[in-house]
Amino acid sequence: MKKTMACVAAGFLLAGAATEPSAIAAKKRNKGSVKKEAFGKTKDGKAVEAYTLVNKNGLKARIITYGAMLTEMHVPDKDGLLGDVVLGHDNLENYLDGHPYFGVTTGRVANRIAKGKFILDGKEYTLALNNDPNHLHGGTEGIDKKVWSARVSRSKANPAVAFSYTSPDGEEGYPGRLKMKVTYTLTDDDELQIEYLATTDKATPVNLTNHAYWNLAGKGTILDHVLQINADHYTPVDATGIPTGEILKVDDVMSFIKPTAIGARIDKITGEPGGYDHNYCLNKKESGKLSLAARVEESTSGRVLEIFTTEPGIQLYTGNFLDGTEVGKGGQKYEFRNALCLEAQHFPDSINHSQFPNTVLRKNQKYTQTTIHKFSVR
Ligand code: BGC
Repeated sequence: MKKTMACVAAGFLLAGAATEPSAIAAKKRNKGSVKKEAFGKTKDGKAVEAYTLVNKNGLKARIITYGAMLTEMHVPDKDGLLGDVVLGHDNLENYLDGHPYFGVTTGRVANRIAKGKFILDGKEYTLALNNDPNHLHGGTEGIDKKVWSARVSRSKANPAVAFSYTSPDGEEGYPGRLKMKVTYTLTDDDELQIEYLATTDKATPVNLTNHAYWNLAGKGTILDHVLQINADHYTPVDATGIPTGEILKVDDVMSFIKPTAIGARIDKITGEPGGYDHNYCLNKKESGKLSLAARVEESTSGRVLEIFTTEPGIQLYTGNFLDGTEVGKGGQKYEFRNALCLEAQHFPDSINHSQFPNTVLRKNQKYTQTTIHKFSVR
């Protein structure tokens, strides 16, 4: 099924050559490639495509148009061996059968909205309760389940693809026609950069993120991954994952200010199923500016992932709902805590908490976000 349809690398590599000094164009010619392939069809017959970005060091990211989803991310270990560090499936059918948001672009509003209700400009809106008793990740058919259009981006010096989707007014209960563009770029500095842009014709809440499940060893538990999060505060939640509204200082269990193994204190977070599933309020010198949010290191592979974002928060989710029933790439069973998510975002349920940074996008405004995943070895 994954038959090559067209190789668009040349289109990308030669972009702009006629108008640029030849030295720059020649330099660009050595900088990676973009390949487009068929990736099957949705149940209603829509063709889905996969775009593979390769940078000059051989790192490889694969994104499909279904859900503008990162399905593969191959990065070197300390011996230079490439390994795939995100969970996912080998084929579209398995994604269509349902999955826990592996690598997807999540929204319109990522994370939870309490009881699926909010009031905006005096009007009450009701959304699907797809995570009883709350609304989660944009509803029953959020943007993660749509086929996006894609274009190789010619304005970037590195391999890049821009994915676009326009969500009609009223889709999943949200007001406003929301136009979204998500551009993935794989730089020669070994960064997967994700840039988001959205506009609306009516006020509406927006909170976009990428929901990659990381495992820097490629398999097994993530309890030994060492994590650092640049946050002195977090938003505590009730038993249903909804913020209480408080912004608390991280305590001994919640703090990742100092690099700490994820498993070191995880059992102290009890509940059903327990473990980290919390939004951290990032320490920022200036809001909206790109800064280091988190760093993850895995000692056997030597792989390091650093995340920089313009967003005010990041959700740490330690794969607490994975239970081995999800069988992914190469028949691998994804067991309890076999991955972690670090979702750059605005705080959960912000639309119902006026003290949290604003998530309302109005007509004539632009929503923008940049999040960078930088890979290295130690
Ligand atoms: C949430 C988890 C949820 C997961 C779904 C995360 O963003 O915080 O509670 O189970 O997404 O896969």
